[in-house]
Amino acid sequence: MSVVELCREDEIAVVLVDNPPVNALKHEVRVGLLNAFSQARDDPEIAAIVLTCAGRTFIAGADITEFDKPPKSPHLSEVIALIETIQKPVVAAIHGTALGGGFEIALGCHFRVAAPGTRVGLPEIKLGLIPGAGGTQRLPRLIGIEKALPMILSGNPVGAKEALQYGAIDSILDGEFTPAAVEFARKVLREKRPLRRVRDIDEKLAPIREDPAKFEEIAAASSKRTRGLHAPAAAIEAVRWSLEVPFEEAERRVRSAFQELRQGEQSKAQRYVFFAEREAAKVPGVTAGVRPREIARAGVIGAGTMGGGIAMCFANAGIPVTLIETGEEPLGRGLDTIAKNYRNTVKRGGLAADEMERRLGRIAGSTEFERLADADIVVEAVFEEMELKKRVFGDLDRVTKPDAVLATNTSYLDVDAIGQSTKRPQAVLGMHFFSPANVMRLLEVVRGKETAPDVLATAIAVGRRIGKVPVVVGVCHGFVGNRMLRARGIEAERMLLEGALPQDIDGAIVEFGFPMGPFAMGDLAGLDVGWRMRKAQGLKSEIADRLCEAGRFGQKTGKGFYLYEAGSRTPRPDPEVEKLIAEASARHGIARRSIDRREILERLLYPMINEGARILEEGVAARPGDIDIIWIYGYGWPVWRGGPMFYADQVGLAAIRDRLAEIAARAKDARLEPAPLLERLASERRGFASLTEPARARA
Ligand SMILES: NC(=O)c1ccc[n+]([C@@H]2O[C@H](COP(=O)([O-])OP(=O)(O)OC[C@H]3O[C@@H](n4cnc5c(N)ncnc54)[C@H](O)[C@@H]3O)[C@@H](O)[C@H]2O)c1
Repeated sequence: MSVVELCREDEIAVVLVDNPPVNALKHEVRVGLLNAFSQARDDPEIAAIVLTCAGRTFIAGADITEFDKPPKSPHLSEVIALIETIQKPVVAAIHGTALGGGFEIALGCHFRVAAPGTRVGLPEIKLGLIPGAGGTQRLPRLIGIEKALPMILSGNPVGAKEALQYGAIDSILDGEFTPAAVEFARKVLREKRPLRRVRDIDEKLAPIREDPAKFEEIAAASSKRTRGLHAPAAAIEAVRWSLEVPFEEAERRVRSAFQELRQGEQSKAQRYVFFAEREAAKVPGVTAGVRPREIARAGVIGAGTMGGGIAMCFANAGIPVTLIETGEEPLGRGLDTIAKNYRNTVKRGGLAADEMERRLGRIAGSTEFERLADADIVVEAVFEEMELKKRVFGDLDRVTKPDAVLATNTSYLDVDAIGQSTKRPQAVLGMHFFSPANVMRLLEVVRGKETAPDVLATAIAVGRRIGKVPVVVGVCHGFVGNRMLRARGIEAERMLLEGALPQDIDGAIVEFGFPMGPFAMGDLAGLDVGWRMRKAQGLKSEIADRLCEAGRFGQKTGKGFYLYEAGSRTPRPDPEVEKLIAEASARHGIARRSIDRREILERLLYPMINEGARILEEGVAARPGDIDIIWIYGYGWPVWRGGPMFYADQVGLAAIRDRLAEIAARAKDARLEPAPLLERLASERRGFASLTEPARARA
């Protein structure tokens, strides 16, 4: 069976794409479409054409693997140009998702009908690209720039109802879909409806052409948080061409802009991340035969910063949750914070008031542990103290169902030791959320020595259900993310002592693309958290401890590494802190020197990469891509730089090894000496990527 079939229903031709699983537009599909549409065009007995797809979705986009190869004719634009110029009505019958090139084909058809529940969109921006086959020109013509530009810049799809409202589709059809679409085509013929070529529509563009300031306004409003990215700027340019130059000329320019982005470092990194995220879903030892357990009810212990956010995650996904606290007072405080968070979202327009009520209705607070008896999964988020956690898990063992999954949100503690405090360590694992838990996408799923595969599978499945990106990691102090963060933190403090200021270090990392630097982040999270932990472990931090002793806990006290004016979250450099740092340098007999941005970056990032190499060697992370996903979704590593391990490969492992050896010698810190895996790969002239795709990376 070919990937594109041409069938007949009297005078209606049905072009059927059948390229499972998502009807991606690989080369054969483009050729098949070109042939089928030419044939239907030239057949005098055919009066109208319906384009439809087999399986669960319409064409859901390009075949992304083709982006790494030179373009192969026919280009999608040629297929669409052929479709658009046919002198017979062409109806796109869309179900599932019409994304990217799939939606661009639909935009080239004269009519678009959709099954209920369909979504359409142009997600290219998420891969560091712009729609390359007419999307940037046809969508603004069809629905206006005000609606089109946000769709193109966010990459987020819209549902059928919204698409109908915008005018992106003509009708939502109930009943059996293909026959309904064929009937729609017959109706078009009966009513002799004119063929609507989207490229010729101008009525929505004309008003904006008259008012260029309006365009800038829309562009500015829909391109926030795109600092450092090339694709959003290119997309805005491309949409601007829809106003300024004829369609053909605009499309020529778009094609060349697309090629430039495709070959650029940013899109390569973003495509890598796209695949790494999918790869992270494959967990060694969790085969397709391992079935996740049913989760109907959840429990959360501790209604503090994390517990409250975790309870919201369950409630948002429709899972009723019981939230346990030690007393009425902390419970009330936790529930109030949750309600306040929801109210703020409603105020900002992000949630309907009745939906807020439904979500709140799913969260039941209690001070009785026994209320967890019917929970299928429990996430513990009490204080970070081993003895307390062991006691809580002992109690959980007593009250929960035998097949309940028992998870801890610990940041650093030994998940195996926690498991040993129950009679069912196979049911225990870590589910490490990131703050704010209801917002951050990353979920480190910590696999204990005895964690059962189906328990792991359940945590992953629940993670996805509540909208997270789960990555499986092994047990070690701080798991993957915090362990690497610590390596960065130690070096950041060392540089303070040598001569840098917090704003120098934060400035360098923000310029690199992170949303904030280590010191601003410490101020946000609260410096007292780490202080308490260090005291418990008998550890010291030369500067942060002094700040805490002076009552400077960060944003919550208005000062930390920086100064915060009342009600402001903007960090301002503080001369008092500079003095305190200079005194610390003097105490250590260090002559302060100026440290340039390049050195700052190398000394922040290379120790992290080194720790990443150790993590891989120990098997705490299964793949370099898993580490990259953790840093992108949990710590704000700029997606267009692909994550720390991907970045390391771009810099070159030999250069990193040599620089680390120097840094280690100067600091007399063995931890900074190149990890054996880094040594080995560097001497073999390989990258981290070669660990997962040997053939490609070594070629
Ligand atoms: N704050 C973060 O950024 C962050 C991020 C990831 C993980 N974590 C981890 O999450 C856990 C909780 O951290 P947090 O920041 O939410 O702390 P928190 O101090 O804000 O909240 C802890 C809550 O647990 C309650 N509690 C204590 N003992 C209890 C018990 N026996 N039964 C029921 N409730 C009890 C306390 O009353 C308090 O409300 C810690 O293990 C921490 O390491 C924190």
